[in-house]
Amino acid sequence: MRFPGVYAEHGVFVCFEGGEGSGKSTQSRLLHEALTARGHRVLLTFEPGDTAVGKDVRRIVLSPETGDLDDRTEALLFAADKAEHIESMVRPALERGEVVITDRYVDSMLAYQGAGRVLDAAQLEEVARWATADLRPHLTVLLDLDPTAGFTRFEERDRMEQESVEFHQRVRSAFVALAERNPEHYLVLDARAPVEEIHEAVLARLEPLLTQAVTA
Ligand code: TMP
Repeated sequence: MRFPGVYAEHGVFVCFEGGEGSGKSTQSRLLHEALTARGHRVLLTFEPGDTAVGKDVRRIVLSPETGDLDDRTEALLFAADKAEHIESMVRPALERGEVVITDRYVDSMLAYQGAGRVLDAAQLEEVARWATADLRPHLTVLLDLDPTAGFTRFEERDRMEQESVEFHQRVRSAFVALAERNPEHYLVLDARAPVEEIHEAVLARLEPLLTQAVTA
């Protein structure tokens, strides 16, 4: 296999994935608070847009003013955001032994650009793995939600949110298929469950991994 997956030796890399309105940001924040309270050093971050270059990428890929973009252009912009994010923020924090919590990562690209835009899955995965030097999360938490339940905002939708329900159904199925491909590194939860219940399930699953993380 060309890209077998690299798991950091130090620190703990946790990723939240899911469709629009699935509660990733809330759960990332709750996990950050809980682990910080236990004395862990934690980096809470997100894609796209948490680096200086990434901010510009985020504006281009998500602003409705951008209008139509070639699908490969869009994929490469998300890949550029990932490369910068991994090398300038995520990897250094892991090397310091910290817990890194990211709101979205490679699976979002495979789901949105691969399944949503219908780009060749194998080629796209090569690009995504190359951009991130194949660094994989120790745990990806997938908050699974029917897209028709996820849209609460009907105004000011960004470029992705403006896509059809069918697009978002393809995205959802792709997320689930990615989790099924590698269950050892995934926790799939029903996003409609109570916030506190989801949070407790994430903490319980993470517990054995935390031995790899430093405390402040
Ligand atoms: P969010 O940060 O509010 O979740 O918005 C990010 C949007 O960008 C969301 O619609 C998913 C999309 N996205 C991709 O299409 N590809 C990617 O690689 C990433 C990280 C996000």
